[in-house]
Amino acid sequence: MNSPQNSSPSPQTPGPAALPTRGRVLVHAAVIYDAVQPLVTLGQEARLNRWLAEQISLPDGEQVLDVGCGTGLLTVQIARGNPGLHVIGIDASRPMIDVANRKRSSSDCRFQQALGEDLPFPDSHFAMVTSALFFHHVDRDLKQQTLQEIYRVLKPGGELLIADMDKPYTLLGWAMSWTAWKLFRQPEIKENMDGVLREEIETAGFLNLTELSRFSGYIRVLHARRGS
Ligand SMILES: C[S@@+](CC[C@H](N)C(=O)[O-])C[C@H]1O[C@@H](n2cnc3c(N)ncnc32)[C@H](O)[C@@H]1O
Repeated sequence: MNSPQNSSPSPQTPGPAALPTRGRVLVHAAVIYDAVQPLVTLGQEARLNRWLAEQISLPDGEQVLDVGCGTGLLTVQIARGNPGLHVIGIDASRPMIDVANRKRSSSDCRFQQALGEDLPFPDSHFAMVTSALFFHHVDRDLKQQTLQEIYRVLKPGGELLIADMDKPYTLLGWAMSWTAWKLFRQPEIKENMDGVLREEIETAGFLNLTELSRFSGYIRVLHARRGS
């Protein structure tokens, strides 16, 4: 765990293209990510991010963290849909953070290169942590480490909102997940298809785990809380 820092805006630091992690960090994909993502989600990317942002109901001034933010598509949607909140997105990829900073940063929507499993924030800092399509990029142990880090930085009673690959619920969703698993040789995807994310969320200590919605045949939205 990094030593706690506050979450004030950090100037863009020249760092490695990818912070060291077992997670699958997207470096070269950053330049095409925004164009490709709507295709990967069968045209649902904007609807999914809007829907996620609409689930947030927090008092003004609260802080929200978006883990594995990529180019900041969800992060900015949260900030735009919830003026008054302070949103920060983190990703292990510097090119992703560069794109996010260039296209989407503002005083209430900031981006920082950091690892999900080693969050550079103090304990009990955020009212909510979100994450979209990140957890199928990390193996089971890293899923657990990241969830424990999220638990640590959440305030007591704080909310976890995850949209990710999970048990497919349509034939097309199953075919897409299976193809991605085989094509990218990514066992982390198979773990998600087997539903391990829910087990890991509960193992990390979260309470009241529920499925809020489903998208694109293979994405499920999970919500849970840190105990008070
Ligand atoms: C599929 S993208 C999702 C991006 C964004 N949340 C979205 O919905 O468009 C997954 C992201 O996770 C990042 N990532 C992979 N391992 C990571 C880690 N250990 N810590 C932080 N980010 C990581 C990748 O660099 C990539 O940008």
